[in-house]
Amino acid sequence: MRVHLWSSLFVLLFVSLSYSQDSSTVPVRIPLAIRSPYYNAWVDSTASGHTWPFFWAGGTLGWQGLIRVDKQVYQWLGFSGLNPPVANLTNTQLTPTQTVISMQAGPMDINATFLSPIETADALKQSIPLSYLSLEAKSRDGVPHSVQVYCDISGEFVTPDTNAILTWSSSTTGSSSFHQIQLQINQSLVDTNNRAHDLTMVIATQSNPEVSSRIANDTECRGQFSDDGILGGTPPTTSAKMGNPYPVFSISRDLGNITQTSSPMVWAIGGFRDPAISFTTSTGKVQQRSPLFASSYSDISSVVDAFVVDFADAKARADKLDIQILDAASDISPTYSSMGSDNKWNMSDVKMFMKDMGMSGRVNPVENVYAAFPFFLYINSTYAGYLLAPLLEYQDSPQYSQPYAARDIGQNYPIATGSNIPHSQGYEQSSNMLIMALAHARASGDGSLISQHYGLLKDWADYLTSFNVTPPDATTVDQERQSNTTNLAIKGIIGIKAMSEISKALNQVEDADRYANFASAFANTWLSVASSSDGQHLLASYGNSASWAQIYNSYPDRLLQTGVVDNQTYEAQTKYYQSLLSGTSSQFGLPLDSSTDITNTAWTFFTAATTTDSTVRDSLINPVWTHATKDTRPLVLQYKVDTSDPLPTNGASNPALGAVFAPLALSIPSQSIVVPPSSGASDSTSPTTHSSIVGPVVGGVVGGVVLIAFIVVGALFWRRRRRQQYAMYSDKVYLHSQPIDEPPVIIPYTDLTLSSTQLPSSDNGETQDSPLGTMARPSKAQEAGLTSAAYKPSPPASSSYSAAPSSSREPPTEVTSPTTNVSNSDVLGLRVEVENLRRVMQEIQADRIEAPPSYAD
Ligand SMILES: *[C@@H]1O[C@H](CO)[C@@H](O)[C@H](O)[C@H]1NC(C)=O
Ligand SMILES: *[C@@H]1O[C@H](CO)[C@@H](O)[C@H](O)[C@H]1NC(C)=O
Ligand SMILES: *[C@@H]1O[C@H](CO)[C@@H](O)[C@H](O)[C@H]1NC(C)=O
Ligand SMILES: *[C@@H]1O[C@H](CO)[C@@H](O)[C@H](O)[C@H]1NC(C)=O
Ligand SMILES: *[C@@H]1O[C@H](CO)[C@@H](O)[C@H](O)[C@H]1NC(C)=O
Ligand SMILES: *[C@@H]1O[C@H](CO)[C@@H](O)[C@H](O)[C@H]1NC(C)=O
Ligand SMILES: *[C@@H]1O[C@H](CO)[C@@H](O)[C@H](O)[C@H]1NC(C)=O
Ligand SMILES: *[C@@H]1O[C@H](CO)[C@@H](O)[C@H](O)[C@H]1NC(C)=O
Ligand SMILES: *[C@@H]1O[C@H](CO)[C@@H](O)[C@H](O)[C@H]1NC(C)=O
Repeated sequence: MRVHLWSSLFVLLFVSLSYSQDSSTVPVRIPLAIRSPYYNAWVDSTASGHTWPFFWAGGTLGWQGLIRVDKQVYQWLGFSGLNPPVANLTNTQLTPTQTVISMQAGPMDINATFLSPIETADALKQSIPLSYLSLEAKSRDGVPHSVQVYCDISGEFVTPDTNAILTWSSSTTGSSSFHQIQLQINQSLVDTNNRAHDLTMVIATQSNPEVSSRIANDTECRGQFSDDGILGGTPPTTSAKMGNPYPVFSISRDLGNITQTSSPMVWAIGGFRDPAISFTTSTGKVQQRSPLFASSYSDISSVVDAFVVDFADAKARADKLDIQILDAASDISPTYSSMGSDNKWNMSDVKMFMKDMGMSGRVNPVENVYAAFPFFLYINSTYAGYLLAPLLEYQDSPQYSQPYAARDIGQNYPIATGSNIPHSQGYEQSSNMLIMALAHARASGDGSLISQHYGLLKDWADYLTSFNVTPPDATTVDQERQSNTTNLAIKGIIGIKAMSEISKALNQVEDADRYANFASAFANTWLSVASSSDGQHLLASYGNSASWAQIYNSYPDRLLQTGVVDNQTYEAQTKYYQSLLSGTSSQFGLPLDSSTDITNTAWTFFTAATTTDSTVRDSLINPVWTHATKDTRPLVLQYKVDTSDPLPTNGASNPALGAVFAPLALSIPSQSIVVPPSSGASDSTSPTTHSSIVGPVVGGVVGGVVLIAFIVVGALFWRRRRRQQYAMYSDKVYLHSQPIDEPPVIIPYTDLTLSSTQLPSSDNGETQDSPLGTMARPSKAQEAGLTSAAYKPSPPASSSYSAAPSSSREPPTEVTSPTTNVSNSDVLGLRVEVENLRRVMQEIQADRIEAPPSYAD
């Protein structure tokens, strides 16, 4: 039932776009590929084809697409200057997994589809850091034309440093032809300015006699294709300085004389990093964890082969996810390849890691994991558990000695050493952990985490009860310094009630009663000290009668139905928000409280999800949308409501933006919580070998997904307001009880890696190199240079191609508007049968009348 519900919601998200015709629904920044914090490319939607794609944190990415029709060349991606001509942009379409850019290149119409898969049913596939770019073409005049297509990536995907030395190799297997590129001097697990030193970029395509490829400077590759429609020539070297000219890695294909492509030309592009995370275990061992896919594929070449060959299926899965059928993805099982008896993966120890993007770079920052939790609960609650596991594991070990929950498990992604430092957010972070532990158990039905870490969770609940309703005078994660903060106190009380529910699910009746009693007593006191004298609203801090706040911390009470705050209070508070909104002149939203002019996108969505009136809810959210669509800078978490200026640390691209799913997450049904018998015991299916086991797995990034899904959600919500007449959007159908009209935020991405743990490695506790450690080593074929078909000697200097001087390549973050003629960029028509949808609606409605969840006890 849950699967149905989720897939149905995705249908709604998808369909919503079908009816969006207003170009303002396309965000200024649209994602092209998002598979990790390091392979994360965007483009300015208002200037597609007239600008270079860019890295999420800023910096040009040289990524060029060309098509040659009857010897005339057009640019369809990237911008090397006005010659060759740029294809006319005719449409831009976003779905949860895909960005489709439609263009006209002379006599051909083309669709470039950027697919960043969201593998909701398979963490292993999700961990493969590659995305697809597919190109389809159709003759406008019905007459066949001679067509060649081309795509390249420049060294800028590896580093923005124009003095760096890059090394590369190329190879062709039975299934794929690809180039791989890395820094010559690379340090494992070191990041500078959000870039990884040890990234291996790959551009690949399926092997075919009509495929040709080349590594050379930008002018050379693009010029050769323009002149001849075919690439070739042995690269002069296997390494070069990055900038001026830029080394580019190109792959083209001759499609022949066609009226239309029978199947799309597909490139696979991505960035590998292995190990992906350094994780300190509860026993203090440092594990170098590998991406989850490394448990199935022994090197880059085999994972690239599998990925390239999988395109049709991956596209079908994405379409199904986009449209309707989530569970179909489980039909496709990953291809496991033998690892040899020495290399065993402990598949019961999968973990996921998140980077605090745009803020601090911390690993699994608890407040932002908490903010993003609605998203993870929504797409696959198992993933939510993968995120909690490393936090719980570390803090439940002798390494950790604080009486409250930690803020993260490391200061600098990707180094997850754990952090046992005292801090002043103990009350807040302990509450966050208790709330997430219960939310995960309920949404997934999996009681293993709460049972394994029951003692730890109880310690945190006891810590909370020690403060009664007076939270310590602490700095909150939002930098608020008020004492007796209403908002902070309620989160703690909900945390205590969550502990009671956890105890109940585990049959700890006494504990359950004890914490329930604390929670209900505290809730009463809280209401009396936190209410304004007229009882009409809640104060920002006790006794400060002139104050008010967005009570976003009551959201988990709604999510978990803990009943800590009564309905009258929600209703009164909703009315109060309404009066605040009508009294404000700010077009960018309501501040977090009466003492500040700052607001927070995530918390505004939490607040909106607590309101009892959809008009008020929308009035809270609309201004955030206004901010998001007007802001030409990367999207942010925190900004000033009067000027819309972001704060210095503003949370651009921060995973906390997953809070956009807060209203949707209210509809996720609870499951009976079951504690697996093996929980806590060692894995009976574990391999018996104890020699040289390799480090686990990380790597996948669910984030991309997130981002794209965010955009869709934004568009959906936006749509609903305009299409009230469209019956299928009725509130009843869309959400169980909290319909949303317009959230909107287009959010950037979160970055998570998955990891499965390492089996007991050798006795000294040191981990071995992962099998992927070999991935950067060129094979014999690679060493021999390019082996793709159709090489030919270098042509003379190109004539028809003018490359833009590199100095003209401004980072797009500075772009305000394109100067070239910009085509319309309407979000348009994804056609989904209305009938289909209606059936889905009926299913949802049928689901809704089923009995509420119960707990096994
Ligand atoms: C773009 O559209 C204009 C006007 O229809 C047309 O003249 C021009 O040839 C088109 N450009 C391309 C690259 O198709
Ligand atoms: C969620 O992900 C897990 C891990 O990959 C998978 O086993 C499970 O089937 C997924 N759940 C759904 C509903 O697809
Ligand atoms: C591009 O996609 C649109 C919408 O799906 C479709 O109507 C059109 O035929 C496609 N064009 C090509 C060239 O495949
Ligand atoms: C790192 O650099 C070494 C030495 O140049 C090279 O052998 C190795 O392949 C590189 N690895 C990666 C992942 O870039
Ligand atoms: C680009 O490469 C070509 C062929 O290798 C070479 O002749 C040309 O000088 C290079 N261009 C620059 C600017 O180095
Ligand atoms: C394509 O058509 C052109 C002219 O119409 C012709 O010269 C060429 O040989 C054809 N190519 C193929 C592969 O059929
Ligand atoms: C916090 O509230 C409690 C109870 O209302 C009060 O006793 C205490 O003085 C307050 N603390 C501060 C710093 O205002
Ligand atoms: C409070 O509101 C919720 C949702 O609107 C409803 O399910 C619940 O029954 C209400 N509780 C009371 C005591 O009225
Ligand atoms: C596999 O991982 C699980 C969960 O962390 C752990 O309990 C188990 O002991 C591990 N198995 C082996 C053989 O290390």
